[in-house]
Amino acid sequence: SENIYILGIESSCDDTAAAVIHNGKILSNVIANQKIHEAYGGVVPELASRAHQQNIVPVVDQALKKANIAKEQLHAIAFTRGPGLMGSLLVGTSFAKSLAMGLNIPLIDVNHMQAHILAHFIDEEGFNKPPFPFLAMTISGGHTQIVKVSNYFDMEVIGETIDDAVGEAYDKSGKILGLGYPAGPQIDKRAQLGNPKAFKFTKPKVAGLNFSFSGLKTAILYFIQKETANNPNFVEENINDICASIQYTIIGILMDKLKLASKQTGIKHIAIGGGVSANSGIRQALKTGESKFGWTTYVPKFEFTTDNAAMIAIVGYLKFLENDFTEQDVTASARLKI
Ligand code: KG4
Ligand code: ZN
Repeated sequence: SENIYILGIESSCDDTAAAVIHNGKILSNVIANQKIHEAYGGVVPELASRAHQQNIVPVVDQALKKANIAKEQLHAIAFTRGPGLMGSLLVGTSFAKSLAMGLNIPLIDVNHMQAHILAHFIDEEGFNKPPFPFLAMTISGGHTQIVKVSNYFDMEVIGETIDDAVGEAYDKSGKILGLGYPAGPQIDKRAQLGNPKAFKFTKPKVAGLNFSFSGLKTAILYFIQKETANNPNFVEENINDICASIQYTIIGILMDKLKLASKQTGIKHIAIGGGVSANSGIRQALKTGESKFGWTTYVPKFEFTTDNAAMIAIVGYLKFLENDFTEQDVTASARLKI
């Protein structure tokens, strides 16, 4: 097994994506982002599955073309089985099944949350792979999890959100402030120009390693309503300080739990993934963790950290090496657990 080519397909949320991996190296990584949801300020499931149906054939074709291989050269098809939106998952799952059947090659099912973590094992110059065991924190618009990773497929969720995901906290706060969707990058940009201690938002009290973000969103809403009642221009006049204060609170919540997780497990190798890992505040905080607590931190290349199919393809490759294949009767699973 020296020259393995695997196609990865991802369709769990609003991105239709396909990637080709050759052994551990990504040859192509194609994403069709569904702009349609921006107008609604969030993902609309009905629209997402329809767009996946339109996108999946061209996206897969493009991934093969960019990798410069014919589909007959593929050794296996890996696809996201879950978790995610059922209608979206069904499109990728049925497409992967029929393609594998037509080519008479194995099918490999992939857990999207494991894939976010295993994206760290893609061969990429300038990026180190974390040694086992390590802690993985996956932070995005759909997820907020801390996972203890003992081996590729030996993972334990030790903390997760009990309500909103951290990216949702960013996006919903941004909506209150009148920023466009997704608001995370915009809040981040303004936060870097503001005073993080200008306004104080209380952190939620959640036991252990779990997270909660819905209270923060409500606190921000009430705060903005109260201030604009006195001064209708409050948001415009203070936007940088408001964003900096929100970011300071959110990063504080993430870091408190990460520190606790590291202390409880004794693990100092910390890997992060998901769209929010692009955030300048979390990157700064991880650097501080390196000097202050002796952590070694890992952040994947950006294109492998937001929802993508390269991470599905690397899991496909790792499972291929273990002869871990899936039968044709496999079904999508919206609530698949790690
Ligand atoms: O991983 P991703 O592309 O898709 C999923 O949600 O699965 O993550 C998107 C999320 C959005 O909520 C977006 O606002 C947030 O990541 N995000 C950020 C930043 N860049 C993206 N949040 C804070 N700071 C950023 N720089
Ligand atoms: Zn994701």
